[in-house]
Amino acid sequence: MRSLFVVFALIVLVITAPMMAAQKVELTIDTSKTGAKIDRNIFGQFAEHLGHGIYEGIWVGPDSKIPNTRGIRNDVVGALKAIKVPNVRWPGGCFADEYHWRKGIGPQRSVTLNPNWGGVTEANTFGTHEFMDFIDQIGAEAYVSVNVGSGTPQEASEWLEYMTAATPTTLVKERAANGHPVPYKVALLGIGNESWDCGGNMTPDYYVSQMKIYSRFVRNFNPAQQDKHQMLKIAVGPGGDGPRWTDWTETVMKAYQQHTWSWDINGLSMHNYTVGHWPPSYASVGFGETEYSQILKSTLEMEGLISEHSAIMDKYDPDKKVALFVDEWGGWYAPLPGSNPGFLVQQNSLRDAILAALNLNIFARHADRVRGANIAQMINVLQAMIMTDKEKMVLTPTYYVFKMYVPFQDAAFIPVTFDAGRYTHGDVSLPRVDAIAAKDTNGKLWLEITNLDPNEPVEVEAGLAGITAKSASGETLTAPKVDSVNTFDAANTVMPKPISAKIQGGKLTLKLEPKSVTVVSVEQ
Ligand code: AHR
Repeated sequence: MRSLFVVFALIVLVITAPMMAAQKVELTIDTSKTGAKIDRNIFGQFAEHLGHGIYEGIWVGPDSKIPNTRGIRNDVVGALKAIKVPNVRWPGGCFADEYHWRKGIGPQRSVTLNPNWGGVTEANTFGTHEFMDFIDQIGAEAYVSVNVGSGTPQEASEWLEYMTAATPTTLVKERAANGHPVPYKVALLGIGNESWDCGGNMTPDYYVSQMKIYSRFVRNFNPAQQDKHQMLKIAVGPGGDGPRWTDWTETVMKAYQQHTWSWDINGLSMHNYTVGHWPPSYASVGFGETEYSQILKSTLEMEGLISEHSAIMDKYDPDKKVALFVDEWGGWYAPLPGSNPGFLVQQNSLRDAILAALNLNIFARHADRVRGANIAQMINVLQAMIMTDKEKMVLTPTYYVFKMYVPFQDAAFIPVTFDAGRYTHGDVSLPRVDAIAAKDTNGKLWLEITNLDPNEPVEVEAGLAGITAKSASGETLTAPKVDSVNTFDAANTVMPKPISAKIQGGKLTLKLEPKSVTVVSVEQ
């Protein structure tokens, strides 16, 4: 009898343990206090001529058996349209400072080298017209990085004339002869890339003198971009933590403060990868909770870096005219065994989905200054949205996070207060949850909540001051393991699924699964 009772008690314990373990987190959302607009450009992508990011990832050529439109993969275009990519940064990265645009136009393309990335040949079959066609097909805008390192102001200025001018100059006629009489729109212009390193190892002062020249002479002539929709010029900014980088930001921003009518910048770039430590050696798959917690700890350093550099920018630009563009970010891990190390091929796991959500939330909280970001990189490289292998395509956990966050594009930030609690593993201690809220352009309330804890569910109760909530619905993204991935053979392991959310007594309640990203909307 006694042993029966023990067995019964054990069964009860096993059944109720997960419920007992759920942690409670109370959120307070005051919908009357709207903050800055979460610029859709923080959901930007980066596509460099690197590995299979462009060739095979986007471009297969018009003669390929893989279904394509003018050489551009239809499956990739369809997937990217669904995440409403606002802009694509191209052609690099380090590649941009060795790119000579004339080699990528016209019927005869030069075959060149790509010394930065695997030393392979560059066919230049994907050039200016193909890039513009691609972004047009996915509905994004162009973020073009011009070559400051090994190019000249003249080369860059002629490229912009070729792309954007409407009057019949020789270059404009050449563009028309190459199939595009109408000027292209260039929304964003990057003046160099990592000019402190692969872009020419410049000192901040030397870069500033180059930046002024490029800003002055690399003009956008598109008639539709003269008053409204002016091209934003993004200067090279910091690439890490420490005095070298604060000096860089100080120098560029001090110059900006003293700028005259003849030159201007509208943004300062920041590059910050989640690596753990250099060279990248963390595995992208086949890891456990220790590596999970360490990488998430490392990614949260983005917050301090943005705060530090925003504070410097505030000194020289208190009106926040110059945006901070985090135009390279994401997880950078050891190359997959058997891959070309210069191609930066890695897997993309549930950990990356959580990493992406945490970074997007940091950008949203700094929406007054951070008005652009580009995850590195879009396809087949680093923390990609999409992976391809010949005719096969798979969407990564990070892709699904970007899809779930679409409603936050251009939404108004709403402050959320909460006591996150702590999740601890070994010597790593992290906030248990993270959350943001925003009101979209139709006035609908959206809430994102990440449960970082890989072991414990979280019961959320959110007070919604300022609205009469009627119902709530949403999606959650989780998977069996912290390193669960989608593969070509098992493409649906990490996918969003509907979550049940209730409104009770004017409060939103829902239960978050361990290691999950959740987005809910509230009907009023
Ligand atoms: O994204 C890969 C490389 O990382 C880029 O080319 C460079 O800008 C950065 O160092």
